[in-house]
Amino acid sequence: MSFASIPLTGSKPEQYAQLLAQAEALLDGETDRIANAANLSALVYHALPDLNWVGFYFYDGTELVVGPFQGLPACVRIPLDKGVCGAAARTRTTQRVADVHAFPGHIACDSASRSELVVPLVVPLAEGDALVGVFDLDSPVPDRFDVEDQAGLEAIAAAFLRSLRPA
Ligand code: SME
Repeated sequence: MSFASIPLTGSKPEQYAQLLAQAEALLDGETDRIANAANLSALVYHALPDLNWVGFYFYDGTELVVGPFQGLPACVRIPLDKGVCGAAARTRTTQRVADVHAFPGHIACDSASRSELVVPLVVPLAEGDALVGVFDLDSPVPDRFDVEDQAGLEAIAAAFLRSLRPA
């Protein structure tokens, strides 16, 4: 089956429901985080319009380190006090930035990026929440991401985290 050949149709929430189903099918039965991050990056990058970077940064206990992605080569390490990705990881809340040039400390890995959505990847544990990393999407279009994009992409990030747990 070819995932790239299945177009998304209907309203934006309907399209995100279809994309989530495709993501879950793609991740089904696999717990390797590199494999799942790589395939999710490719799925989302090709399914959604107006994106120039989609990918993962993983937390190594000190800073964020680039993982699988689609787009131009990116900054390798991002401290938690830097950029939109650092803010998402530090505050553990999704950062939806309409104009990256107005975001203090934004890191311009690709000068084409104008707006950005970064979802923190956090696993709840009895001993406290564990930061896995962030799911980062960049767009060359200002204000590319609305609340429906945020909800849809948070659901895909949650599917990624679920996939890491052994069945
Ligand atoms: N713009 C991001 C850096 C990561 S790249 O865009 C891939 C930031 O400010 O955190």
